[in-house]
Amino acid sequence: MFTNAIVRTPGRSIVEGLSNSKTLGLPNYKQAIIQHQSYIDALTKCGLDVHVLEPCEEYPDSTFVEDVALITPNCAIITRPGAPSRRGEVYDIEFVLKQRFNNIEVIDAPGTIEGGDIMMVGDHYFIGLSERTNLEGARQIIKILKKYDMSGSTISLKKVLHLKTGLSYLEKNNLVVCGEFINDSCFEKYNQIEIPENESYAANCIWVNESVIIPLGYPTVKQRIMNAGYTVIETDVSEFEKLDGGLSCLSLRY
Ligand code: GLY
Repeated sequence: MFTNAIVRTPGRSIVEGLSNSKTLGLPNYKQAIIQHQSYIDALTKCGLDVHVLEPCEEYPDSTFVEDVALITPNCAIITRPGAPSRRGEVYDIEFVLKQRFNNIEVIDAPGTIEGGDIMMVGDHYFIGLSERTNLEGARQIIKILKKYDMSGSTISLKKVLHLKTGLSYLEKNNLVVCGEFINDSCFEKYNQIEIPENESYAANCIWVNESVIIPLGYPTVKQRIMNAGYTVIETDVSEFEKLDGGLSCLSLRY
């Protein structure tokens, strides 16, 4: 069960965030604020106490708080983003987490790792090797996880930005899979909820206390997750999609 979440309100600088999307256009600040509030409401509906951080204009992508830390039951780890423009986001999140957790660990250069590349499955963590997460970052985090009686393993990504762009673990052995992860032997022991390519954005969704929050507008994903026995809550995150941001990236849950 999760009891808390940390989110950060988008700043006006969100229009300058990183994006590979050629067709979706720039995010609209006012719409992003409305959608962000709906996202907070969805987390609250799932029973979480949501701590909302002030916008940080200096870092356009800083609303994607999941990328800069990993909170485990035994420790919190400050990551080191692979995107140079995001590196400075870690200082404020370290300050915030130090007020809440005793065991704080830090990823050091030359390691890079972003939280979107880390998928928790019980006390094991799958780590995607991507353009943002390198082998040294993965090595450091696996060492830290072992120190706190947890484990990690790596998987190389071919196409997607982050591991959780195409995978989401919904507890109870249920795994949402899409694109390059379909038929991957690393995940054959899980009950796979396969997502069609035309709804791939919704492969990034989050389990929160028996409910699953998914992006609005993906009927096949909604139906398949409902068929697996979950209550589904939809929330519109289309302004964040314009920056390649997944729904999970908007919060740290613990
Ligand atoms: N715009 C989110 C990211 O690329 O990190």
